[in-house]
Amino acid sequence: MKGGNYTSLGTYSGINAGGNVAVAGKMSLGKSIKMYLTIFILTTCIYMALYQYHISREPFAASEVVKHQEKSSSYIASYLWSPISLLMANSSFNTINDSTTTSTTTTTAPTTPTTTTTGTVGSVGQKVGASSTSSIHMVSLAATIPSFKSESRSGSLGGLQKTATMKTSTTTTTTRTTASGLATTKLLATTRATAKTSAKLSAATTPTASHMENGHKTRPTFVAASLPPPLYIITPTYRRPEQLAELTRLGYTLKHVVNLLWLVIEDANKTNPLVGHTLDRIGVPYEYMVAPMPEKYKQTKKAKPRGVSNRNRGLEYLREHATEGVLYFADDDNTYDISIFEQMRYISKVAMWPVGLVTKTGVSSPIIQAGKLVGYYDGWIGGRKYPVDMAGFAVSVKFLKERPNAQMPFKPGYEEDGFLRSLAPLDDAEIELLADECRDILTWHTQTKKNAPAQALNRTRYKNTNLEHIDRLLVRP
Ligand code: UGA
Ligand code: MN
Repeated sequence: MKGGNYTSLGTYSGINAGGNVAVAGKMSLGKSIKMYLTIFILTTCIYMALYQYHISREPFAASEVVKHQEKSSSYIASYLWSPISLLMANSSFNTINDSTTTSTTTTTAPTTPTTTTTGTVGSVGQKVGASSTSSIHMVSLAATIPSFKSESRSGSLGGLQKTATMKTSTTTTTTRTTASGLATTKLLATTRATAKTSAKLSAATTPTASHMENGHKTRPTFVAASLPPPLYIITPTYRRPEQLAELTRLGYTLKHVVNLLWLVIEDANKTNPLVGHTLDRIGVPYEYMVAPMPEKYKQTKKAKPRGVSNRNRGLEYLREHATEGVLYFADDDNTYDISIFEQMRYISKVAMWPVGLVTKTGVSSPIIQAGKLVGYYDGWIGGRKYPVDMAGFAVSVKFLKERPNAQMPFKPGYEEDGFLRSLAPLDDAEIELLADECRDILTWHTQTKKNAPAQALNRTRYKNTNLEHIDRLLVRP
């Protein structure tokens, strides 16, 4: 019995201990099988029921989707303007437009869309790649695509549409290239329409990869009437080992911004082909000019008025060539969040905002109380009426042109103040406050560590090596 019992326990999980082992064993076997089957069937049924419920469920209602909350209405989703996202669009639009285009111009490989840039500037007939080498192509979309004019907004452009296309080594059929040009323009128009109201935009209107795949189904249908107001970015620069690195970094920031002309003005007597080459490669529409610092300031042992002759040359250029839009002084070494550019486009006179990394206070900013400008926070006031940093204000071109004498003084430390004072009359109440009413930091006064000039290359030792080529790319004093 004991043994049997053990057997029964071992075999039948000890359900029937004691009694007639054989009978009890048989009965419990039957019961157990029944029980297992029941459990199995029940479980299967429950799973099936759950699965049915799962697949029959309604998808999320639009209201259920958690939307990204913009911090404030002054935030602009500037990624919408990114030429990169526009280029992403080309792949799908190519198929749509291939059949409609006939003209031929450039030699860019469609397989390398990242080397193509669309730079558009309204109302100015400036050159793209003024000092350029043969690596720049200019394409007037309006000229190469006859159907474009009637299509959307050429009439309201009032200026030239240009595509700075970096030449690649691959040559392919030109029809596709033109198609992508048209596609880019089309999308520009659609995204532009959304920009002014972009605070209300959700991610759903962003041209994402999935939109690209099903472009014909899901892309936005609104069409814009015109380009946004042009931006004129005045950048002083000067010869030093860091120069090309600074310009490259700033240039690729500006590349995210449409309808922008970059006025690069060097404190020098003549242009430097290396700078021209760098600007060509970046592919942002630019003018490269020179404006040397007057000798008397160069000689001084005291602080020099850095970048002043350059900026005044930029102002002169605008008085001659620009009619609308906004100007901004962007030193070549600072750091800029591109949303500030989208915000400054629409100002009517002067706008200001905080700048990070200025003096011991860590920031230079207008002080705002109850929505009003009541003063300035800066580590050094120095008797200035406008103690602001160069990176912290923008001015409307129309407003500038109404003040023919406005310019920047050759007075170290007082460049911003002097220039802003020269814009008088200007009421404090007329100064627009950007970057979330000056609660955010979108520009920084960064400074690059100075590097010693590169030593001369040992030409004998490195004869016929790549170093001979690289050496020609180094900026030496
Ligand atoms: C600060 C201000 O932010 C500048 O706007 C102002 O012009 C300068 O001081 C000044 O006090 O003169 P900071 O960073 O100290 O700027 O000066 P830099 O960055 O060396 O120069 C400002 C701009 O002028 C740069 O874009 C730089 O490339 C250019 N620069 C500098 C010249 O064109 N020539 C020079 O000899 C030095
Ligand atoms: Mn600087």
